[in-house]
Amino acid sequence: MSLSPTEFRSGMRQLAAAVNVITTRHDGARAGMTATAVMSLTAEPPQIAVAVNRSNASYAAITGSGVFAVNVLANDHAAIASRFAGADGVKGEARFSAGQWDVLETGAPILRDCAASFDCTLVQEVAFTSHVVLVGLVRAVRVAPGTTPLLFMDGAWASLVRANDGDFAAYEQLIGELTGALDAVLASQGSFTRKLHDFSAAFIRVNAPVVDVLRDFYTRETFASASRLDAINQRKREVEHKLQDLLIRGVGTGEFEARDPVAAADAILGLLNGIHRRPAATGAQAEDLARRLADLVVAMVAKRHPVPA
Ligand SMILES: Cc1cc2nc3c(=O)[nH]c(=O)nc-3n(C[C@H](O)[C@H](O)[C@H](O)COP(=O)(O)O)c2cc1C
Repeated sequence: MSLSPTEFRSGMRQLAAAVNVITTRHDGARAGMTATAVMSLTAEPPQIAVAVNRSNASYAAITGSGVFAVNVLANDHAAIASRFAGADGVKGEARFSAGQWDVLETGAPILRDCAASFDCTLVQEVAFTSHVVLVGLVRAVRVAPGTTPLLFMDGAWASLVRANDGDFAAYEQLIGELTGALDAVLASQGSFTRKLHDFSAAFIRVNAPVVDVLRDFYTRETFASASRLDAINQRKREVEHKLQDLLIRGVGTGEFEARDPVAAADAILGLLNGIHRRPAATGAQAEDLARRLADLVVAMVAKRHPVPA
């Protein structure tokens, strides 16, 4: 049974790839195209390979000039990647009105501020039906260490945000503080309504001054290692369970009204977690926010509110 191109592509969509713009200069005009089919070939001599569709205008320009550059795009180059893939209909030299371009040794255009550029002379061509693998001998390299690369994955531009242990340590410490504050509240005397109020206020009191840590984490967590995420999610579930337990017990004594205490706990945590969408609040501001949100939470489930002193 032969595989259809659609089946092949559906697999390839899952192959996250670095995005490059391959450029050349031929007969006084620049040409360039976006390419993910780029690979390192040998370090000695330094060679790089690119698979180019022979119907692309860039193919004729590269083979005509005998030179090309591979520009490895940075995270903020998605618009350039789209343009050099032909998305806005702009062709040839006009594509270069976006970005700033230099030259190194061969005269092929080198994109300023990209992650790395390899300036090459074309040394070999190997044809495979629609595509030709072009092998370049690298004459010069320009590198910008620390650049975050642009990726292409599942039909969309993607970014790999660098996460370091410091970010996760700060987040884990925050959850630890939160859990400690909640345990203290839950162990205190008083009605379930009072406990729920103090639980909510403690949650905000811990989170409000450090929303930057939270916001940072929410943008990075997808890139954390699986074991690190498991550890963090485990801590989050502890908090969920404590709140569910509090609500169930409050319903049991008739203090709370909630047909589905687990869903109510989710809704409450959703409200309290929304704090990371606000600017950081400290001191009296954080205190005021804690009190107001705690009142709101109590109003969601308690039969009697405001909270009895
Ligand atoms: C993410 C992405 C990756 C691509 N990779 C390649 C590639 O590796 N080789 C190729 O020939 N075309 C690739 N293309 C298609 C070319 O960028 C596109 O056909 C371009 O318009 C060719 O320009 P040209 O005809 O001016 O050379 C890719 C397109 C996208 C969006």
